[in-house]
Amino acid sequence: MSPIVPLLDDESISEIMINGYNEIFVESGGKLRKTDVSFRDREAWQAAVRNIAQFVGKSLTAHNLSIEARLPDGSRVHIIQEPAARKGTSVAIRKFSKHKLDMNSLIEFGSITPVGSEFLGICVAAAQNIIVSGGTGSGKTTLLNCLSSMIPDGERILVLEDSSELQLQQEHVVPFEVKAPDSKGRGGIDIRELFRGSLRMRPDRVVVGECRGGEAIDMIQAMNSGHGGSMSTAHANSPKDAITRLEVMCLMGGLDIPLLALRAQICSAIDVVVQISRFHDGARKVTHISEVLPVGSDGVANVVDIFSLDGDRNLRWTGKKPSFSDAVMLSDSTDKVSLTDELWTKES
Ligand SMILES: Nc1ncnc2c1ncn2[C@@H]1O[C@H](COP(=O)(O)OP(=O)(O)OP(=O)(O)O)[C@@H](O)[C@H]1O
Ligand SMILES: [Mg+2]
Repeated sequence: MSPIVPLLDDESISEIMINGYNEIFVESGGKLRKTDVSFRDREAWQAAVRNIAQFVGKSLTAHNLSIEARLPDGSRVHIIQEPAARKGTSVAIRKFSKHKLDMNSLIEFGSITPVGSEFLGICVAAAQNIIVSGGTGSGKTTLLNCLSSMIPDGERILVLEDSSELQLQQEHVVPFEVKAPDSKGRGGIDIRELFRGSLRMRPDRVVVGECRGGEAIDMIQAMNSGHGGSMSTAHANSPKDAITRLEVMCLMGGLDIPLLALRAQICSAIDVVVQISRFHDGARKVTHISEVLPVGSDGVANVVDIFSLDGDRNLRWTGKKPSFSDAVMLSDSTDKVSLTDELWTKES
């Protein structure tokens, strides 16, 4: 791996993408650039890839062209071998950063405004069910980490992930990670099994790293049966799209109920969708904070933006208050939750 060691060591680089032995890109400061780094030849690169695979205890063979693994330092590696990778075996390394961005850094970077962050803090404290929605690499996991960090101390938080990325600092956190079965199909546990198990372990909050498939229906049903304050991320392009994505994922879960009934369940389960996007200049920004209201008589998902980006890419209050604002508006300032009119006046 020696050619790429400097890239691995460089803390300003967040991602390394190797598209073949002599084509290596990196992302730094949110921007992609090609490096002049290269492996000696195809064979040297292939040997390096076999090393990574061996290192994580997996084997790349003609029957197993793709590997997803986590390095001991927490970095995530995805490998797709040739011939499926047509330019040569491709590897993407998402480096683990010791310093996870916190909400203050997000504010500093202009990814969210102080008021937007304060509002999300109130949503978290008020145990709203929240989905962070966004595209690949848009900062969903980072934002979910920031939101999770706003969960009040003293609550029992169960964290379920495909591969462990979240770092919660509270005292009472129990992390779980999916495990693939061995080559004989033994010893695996998938996210659905973890989720069902976790519900029997007296959670105050369940944080699911990412909803990708059938586990969405388990999560929706749990949210509807009184497990408030759960959070997850989904891959979608707008808050409304996130609802549609969740519908598709729930259908993947093999639940046989009519789409309208499913949509009604999803919309009553999810309270808030936070949309984050990556812009061409590498900036990540929260573009919407939206409330999901119950499905109306027309059967359409009713998603109302509470904050959205204005023409100058600033997150602004839309002038609409969420329906839960009265419920969480407490005059007793000693309570952990207070959504007062002051928040809105800060904005206007
Ligand atoms: N607000 C931000 N500003 C700048 N960089 C950010 C921001 N949020 C995340 N990043 C960086 O972007 C990269 C991707 O972030 P993250 O893993 O949170 O995205 P993701 O949407 O969860 O990605 P994936 O789709 O792969 O799960 C990381 O290197 C992270 O440090
Ligand atoms: Mg992620």
